[in-house]
Amino acid sequence: MPRKILVTSALPYANGAIHLGHLVEYIQTDIWARFQKMRGHECWYVCADDTHGTPVMLRAEKEGIAPEQLIARVHQEHTRDFAGFHVAFDNYHTTHSEETRFFANDIYGKLKAAGLIEVRSIEQFYDPVKEMFLPDRFIKGECPQCGAADQYGDSCEACGAAYAPTDLKNPVSAVSGAVPVRKSSDHYFFRLSDPRCQEFLRRATREICKAQPEAVNKLQEWLGEEGENRLSDWDISRDAPYFGFEIPDAPGKYFYVWLDAPIGYFGSLKNLAARTPAIDVAAFTDKAAAAKAGSELYHFVGKDILYFHALFWPAELEFAGYRVPTAVFAHGFLTVDGQKMSKSRGTFITAESYLKQGLDPEWLRYYYAAKLNATMEDIDLSLDDFVARVNSDLVGKYVNIASRCAGFIGKRFGGRLVADDSPLLAEARAAAGTIADHYEAREYGKAVREIMALADRANQFVNEHAPWELAKQAGAEGRLQRVCSQALQLFRLLTIYLKPVLPKLAAEAEAFLRLAPLAWADAASLLPDGHEIGEYRHLASRVERKQIDALLEANRESLAPAAPDSHSQQRHAERQQHAEEKAVVTHISIDEFARVDLRVARIAAAEHVEGAEKLIKLTLDLGAETRTVFAGIKSAYDPAALVGRLTVVVANLAPRKMKFGVSEGMILAASGDGPGIFLLSPDSGAQPGMKVK
Ligand code: MSP
Ligand code: ZN
Repeated sequence: MPRKILVTSALPYANGAIHLGHLVEYIQTDIWARFQKMRGHECWYVCADDTHGTPVMLRAEKEGIAPEQLIARVHQEHTRDFAGFHVAFDNYHTTHSEETRFFANDIYGKLKAAGLIEVRSIEQFYDPVKEMFLPDRFIKGECPQCGAADQYGDSCEACGAAYAPTDLKNPVSAVSGAVPVRKSSDHYFFRLSDPRCQEFLRRATREICKAQPEAVNKLQEWLGEEGENRLSDWDISRDAPYFGFEIPDAPGKYFYVWLDAPIGYFGSLKNLAARTPAIDVAAFTDKAAAAKAGSELYHFVGKDILYFHALFWPAELEFAGYRVPTAVFAHGFLTVDGQKMSKSRGTFITAESYLKQGLDPEWLRYYYAAKLNATMEDIDLSLDDFVARVNSDLVGKYVNIASRCAGFIGKRFGGRLVADDSPLLAEARAAAGTIADHYEAREYGKAVREIMALADRANQFVNEHAPWELAKQAGAEGRLQRVCSQALQLFRLLTIYLKPVLPKLAAEAEAFLRLAPLAWADAASLLPDGHEIGEYRHLASRVERKQIDALLEANRESLAPAAPDSHSQQRHAERQQHAEEKAVVTHISIDEFARVDLRVARIAAAEHVEGAEKLIKLTLDLGAETRTVFAGIKSAYDPAALVGRLTVVVANLAPRKMKFGVSEGMILAASGDGPGIFLLSPDSGAQPGMKVK
């Protein structure tokens, strides 16, 4: 029975280039969609650009163009990059579309009718010059914790403190440089705290994420225990000026980008359906129709946006009478040689540069496939390993089978194969089931291992029978043809198995073997006796380490401060997006809290610091060790009065080099809006070194 499947990848932001990190997801999804299609299922793979929000609006303004022009240009770039990596969407649309607007209005209207939309006034920073409300990341100032200058409105890069933008000292708008003022306005909230939502999510998210226990655990943390109400209502509106869809019954209010972004999945499907009569949109989107059709909906996303896809999105759908996702599949993040992608190291590699440098996109597809599994673990692109693996597996194992045998068939036997079965061929055919299960379960690494084990067997077979020797022996013609035919039969089976990963190579192999496009079911049979193959042409090249080095060089950006209007703006916008648009998780888990090592400390010595306005230098006794900590408490305490006191210290804070020396921790103190800093002290009896938890 063919299944009816709609599959999506997250919609990339329309204000940045596609990079190798993104490609983990798009390649992962593409492999899965191609696999489903090869199996004969009805599978639609849709995506779109995520176009709305403040960063796009401001960037367009900076470039002196309309946001529509900016997103049109980026759409063209993204389309080019994805095509370059053989990511074969059935449709790549945009959220700035009538289809998406239609669904956004419909969903909003139904949520409202269900009593789940509420209007509340909230106070935020407002830029009086630019006349706009400022997202957290567009506000800068001094850290309320450590005083570091030039910090964003949500957290400090110097000391790691997280705070509200209104806590910043001397805040300025990063947009205009003006001093922001506090201003109230009405916001629209989706009432996730409603018992109906809580109850539904507790049930549904477990189901939606059941393939990934780590995801279920995360969601459990976010939702809290039965009876607990941890989810806050979700602010889904933004005030003008904003690039997005105006809320139908609320002039001057716009849907927040994260409201319409996932809706863009359906928008893209509707757009595709308009030119594809076979698609019945309702069978994928409407609750009753989808249940009747038995359709399936899968979202591939990064772990950073699991929250949106496993909580907000299903709740939106459920209470608007839409179908909910069958599953959300979250993947980890890409690291390069074990580290986060970095512009200064040149490992922040764009899709465009990879292709421009002439590297083969299927090398990367193969490497990612070999590394991917069904978990949320990060995946590492180890550059030396990349070179070794591509060369040994793709070139040395898979292609090698054909390149060593095809010539003899062509030259000696008019291209004709003989079909005799063998235990090895039977084994290779029998592997189809296991390999399919691995693909289905997104265990691509396991699938690749199986396939390469078969390739090893095939090469062993070729080595044992050494066709190049047979070719020199008189009277060995029959054996030569049989050996080479068998090897090519194996090569064909391996091509079927690798086709979801290597679509272009598979197409070239199909052309050389003179085959119609291979489907999964073709693995059950062999090529018939007398089948004539075409001429073998070179299928894949080796990758050289120096090509990788050139790629890193091309992506390396100097550490010198960039012109403020070029990429630092871009980076700023990206960070804004990642923080503002994603930082909705207001709770931390007990595990996260436990990562903070709080200890009782005795102030063994305290002294003024020459030249420092706010700091006192403390020597802390933590029982087993002594630490030096610079604390910004001079305005409230006389050093002499501190000596001998017990307090609480964050013992595992990364040491920080300050002008006056290295600070090896942070002591805890309370402060409010008014003056005064109040050091924390444990009750009497506590001993230095005791853990606070
Ligand atoms: N626009 C949102 C998604 C909206 S979906 C309704 C967004 N865009 S993004 O461009 O930042 O990321 C797109 C996808 O790529 C996300 O799933 C994200 O997790 C993934 N990745 C972005 N950088 C990545 C890595 N470095 N590594 C792996 N995946 C990464 O989020
Ligand atoms: Zn700080």
